[in-house]
Amino acid sequence: MMESYILDWVQLIFRWLHLITGIAWIGASFYFVWLDNSLENPPQWKQDKGIKGDLWAIHGGGVYEVAKYQLAPEQMPAQLHWFKWEAYTTWLTGMVLLSVIYYLGADAYLIDKRVADLTQVQAIGLGLAYLAGGWVFYELLCRSPLGRNAYIIGAILILAAVGIAYTLTQLFSGRGAYIHMGAIIGTIMVGNVFRVIMPSQRALVAAIEKGEAPDPAWGARAKLHSTHNTYLTLPLLFIMISSHYPMTYASANNWVILLVIMAITAVARQYFVLAHKKVNRPMILVAAAFATLILAIVMAPKTTRVEQSGAAVSVTRVQGILQQRCASCHSAMPTDDVFTVAPGGVMLDTLEEMQRWATRIKARSIDTHDMPFLNKTGMTDEERELVDRWVISGAPGA
Ligand code: HEC
Repeated sequence: MMESYILDWVQLIFRWLHLITGIAWIGASFYFVWLDNSLENPPQWKQDKGIKGDLWAIHGGGVYEVAKYQLAPEQMPAQLHWFKWEAYTTWLTGMVLLSVIYYLGADAYLIDKRVADLTQVQAIGLGLAYLAGGWVFYELLCRSPLGRNAYIIGAILILAAVGIAYTLTQLFSGRGAYIHMGAIIGTIMVGNVFRVIMPSQRALVAAIEKGEAPDPAWGARAKLHSTHNTYLTLPLLFIMISSHYPMTYASANNWVILLVIMAITAVARQYFVLAHKKVNRPMILVAAAFATLILAIVMAPKTTRVEQSGAAVSVTRVQGILQQRCASCHSAMPTDDVFTVAPGGVMLDTLEEMQRWATRIKARSIDTHDMPFLNKTGMTDEERELVDRWVISGAPGA
């Protein structure tokens, strides 16, 4: 009891930090992409100083003048701001969260015996192998001779994503699979900052200080890797919030849904990339919205036999089922070994509470089989049908 209470606080604090650092990282990166693409031709006197673009902005009650040098100022300033800790701390806090929730709590969150009968050690080992393997594969690919062609790399990465999404969902719970895809992407993105973007900036500064021309190879590599980061950002943000939406991760086709949403969000990013270059292609966003609509329609829960028949069911029977299958977690006094406080504040002890949560009960345990959590309490299809019938007939009392 005490232990899970402490772990809840650890989770809360690291989730909070992860959010803050993530906002700082993605916010800074969005800002610089915008900045770069909004620069205008500076007046002659600035050009004479080596400034290639400038812009004016107003924010928080002040007017700002930003200038970007073609290469560097005559003298490097004493204080040059780097942006790297935002990325590193996002990754570090994410790894803490992954470890506390999915690895310490592997039995509850990562292992789904209906998917694969893994031990905790096997599941953690596989998870870490995916993280490390994904990153090493990506690095080798970008460094290989294929690395010279951005389109070939892109195509191989898409195929790899398909393979990873499929195999992850054959090993882990839906959430566990999604979060590992997110962690692989996050690791690649932070790896890009650490292995390519930072070194290339250090090389640039060193060259300027020595009065030499920087090696263009660094710039080209940095560009390839920042392009990847650009397109990976929106899919990653989706994955970060996906655990709230069992209709995605708890679906039988969860790996296809993951890939389709990743594709839609990456395409949506293209609109902004072009918009920053003053190319306006609103059709890209319309297409992304349309694809989302189609996906929602295809994913919609099927009308059940019950909905067609509409026969009534005994409330006492339904109450008995929810007592047996849900109340070990969803109660004022849970008896579950992991969930010692009613998750999501959902308690199903009384008839009033059952009625209050009726639509969510249907959403979580009938339209998707996300509840009981990993079917820990062994709810049967027949029981689901009875509960479904009760909800559909308007969740009547006795
Ligand atoms: C082993 C513990 C466990 C059991 C058993 C369990 N749940 Fe849950 N439930 C959870 C956890 C953990 C969450 C919170 C995480 C989340 O929202 O995904 C949750 C969240 C919920 C929510 C709130 C989220 C929302 O969508 O509004 C509902 C409703 C729910 N469960 C219904 C049920 C029903 C119905 C059953 C029985 C058929 C059930 N649960 C059995 C652990 C359990």
